[in-house]
Amino acid sequence: MSQIETVLKETREFAPSQEFVARANLQPSEYQRVFAEAARNPIQFWEGAARNIDWFQPWQKTFEWKEPHAKWFVGGQLNASYNCLDRHLKTDTKNKLALIWEGEDGHTTRLTYQELFERVCQLANAMESKLDLRAGDFAAIYMPLVPEAVVTMLACARIGVTHSVIFAGFSAHAVRDRINDARCKVVFTADETYRKGQPLNLISIVRQAVAECPGVQHTVVLTRNASTHLSGREVAYQAISEAQPKTHTAKPIDAEHPLFVLYTSGTTGKPKGILHTTGGYLTGVNQTARWVFDLKPNDIYWCTADIGWITGHSYVVYGILSLGMTSLIYEGVLNHPHPGRIWEIADRHKVTILYTAPTAIRSFMRAGEEHPNKYPMASLRLLGTVGEPINPEAWIWYQQTIGKGRCPIVDTWWQTETGGIMISPIPGVVPTKPGSATKPFPGILADIVDENGKSCGPNEGGYLVIKHPWPSMARTILGDPDRFRDAYWTRFPGMYFTGDGAHKDAQGYFWIKGRVDDVINVSGHRLGTMEIESALVSHPSVAEAAVVGPPDELKGQSIVAFVIPKDIANLTDLSALEQSLKRHVANEIGAIARPDRILLTRTLPKTRSGKIMRRLLKDFAAGKTTSGDTTTLENPNLVDLIK
Ligand code: PRX
Repeated sequence: MSQIETVLKETREFAPSQEFVARANLQPSEYQRVFAEAARNPIQFWEGAARNIDWFQPWQKTFEWKEPHAKWFVGGQLNASYNCLDRHLKTDTKNKLALIWEGEDGHTTRLTYQELFERVCQLANAMESKLDLRAGDFAAIYMPLVPEAVVTMLACARIGVTHSVIFAGFSAHAVRDRINDARCKVVFTADETYRKGQPLNLISIVRQAVAECPGVQHTVVLTRNASTHLSGREVAYQAISEAQPKTHTAKPIDAEHPLFVLYTSGTTGKPKGILHTTGGYLTGVNQTARWVFDLKPNDIYWCTADIGWITGHSYVVYGILSLGMTSLIYEGVLNHPHPGRIWEIADRHKVTILYTAPTAIRSFMRAGEEHPNKYPMASLRLLGTVGEPINPEAWIWYQQTIGKGRCPIVDTWWQTETGGIMISPIPGVVPTKPGSATKPFPGILADIVDENGKSCGPNEGGYLVIKHPWPSMARTILGDPDRFRDAYWTRFPGMYFTGDGAHKDAQGYFWIKGRVDDVINVSGHRLGTMEIESALVSHPSVAEAAVVGPPDELKGQSIVAFVIPKDIANLTDLSALEQSLKRHVANEIGAIARPDRILLTRTLPKTRSGKIMRRLLKDFAAGKTTSGDTTTLENPNLVDLIK
């Protein structure tokens, strides 16, 4: 518990301006009542939220609970794609922009709701008639952040195919494992994407992966380079959708039908396929987007996350489009070709709401305020952050330099597993404090508990838990319900364990400190230390490895690997081995998991029961002398040996 003791002493508080409050979707006069009622009866609160969704068939039972398996809106039928498209065609939203896409080279594509609908219908028709995809099938999407990726997600949802979006930075091995785990029948990809002006070949990664995926019947390729040659079971995305009818009747889908699976890291080497269903998920992301982003019909909303992460699913696609809002997407690096690219885009497209990650904010802060200062960004009215704790310094910079003091900041805490935002200011009603995600969303019963599951007092560090199921929660881990129970529902009986440490202050504000398990958070991306360790030990020269994530000013945490080489006596070129290990991890998982530092060592500190003492390694990697208890160490002198 010493690791999560209260360390922050932040006292500044910011209330939203009168002007912001006057137009806020949730008014201060309603908030206390809504919050209190939702706490008393969360089921009723979420039932009310579900009425903002269009249902083909009303539900018979709002909530069913056999811990740890929840069902929401049982018997109800709806379609997520219909809710994001068709229902808007009956109103003026039909001709409003649904998506604005910008490429790194500055090209833009704008799609109205009607146009997006037509594209989705064409692809849905092609999926049924050419690819033999049916409700209950799984399809993988390994695509860059282009409109076609969103079209593919919505086309899957339209016919009841469960999508598995795999971030287009993962390696062939990682792609292969994810495709096989979900038994995907079809893979959607593109021949290439562009990063810092360079083409990046995606199709070759997919080809390598699919060669070991016996269940894949087709690879659908968005061809962007005229010289790409397709062969075998590969078909061009354009060719299959082009001639298809521009209408399609959305299939009624059971509320508990799986909408998507999304893989995330846990405390073992194998990523978890987090499964989300349709009715509860859509209800959750729609309601949270409405209140947390305070969306209005004229907003231009930009979330910088890729669709390969949960943020992209919930707050680029489903939450935002189900509200009929305009979602901006950018396929490129935020500081390319110049350090102010993000601000240039925000200014040019008159973005009103910007949602990004603390790691990005810190890197822009470091680049200097002369870059944002070149762009007035007068349209901005709300700023958001997600993915990791934000340090008060970066928060204040964001608020002052980007928001010019007039934009509230919503620091949103949530997870792949929670589906939607759980703890966050509702900007018109909750005053903010730099570094705090503030209060739980109405209907979310969050608390901090000690080792024994007892509620902690003010400023007492403990474990963040959720005490009542909520509609957008993960239903299971695909193919592994036992792991689902073990990872989230056994640590504290009757409560969902988040894996995060936190404390509440005297006003009930939540301050999240980060993971308390063997998961690290690098630039807002979750990586399991075990996952990287398994990759390392699969290298022929490695006997044993331990990975830790010491704090990093820019990335939140960095990846440091302690490695015991196999044949240490005959090692001559240490730096060649280090390079080879870094490359190997990138090959096994993807560039995001590449260790920043490799420390070759003869031994690792272990407890008498054989557990590696990561705390010592973390302290050592962070340049700290170890303060904690080392009495359980098998051989305390080992620490010196490592040094
Ligand atoms: O540790 C918390 C951190 O990110 C974890 C969830 O990671 P992932 O499933 O990849 O989802 C990220 C995007 C929702 C959490 O367990 N985290 C996320 N948001 C915050 C955060 N930590 C502090 N403050 C946040 N706002």
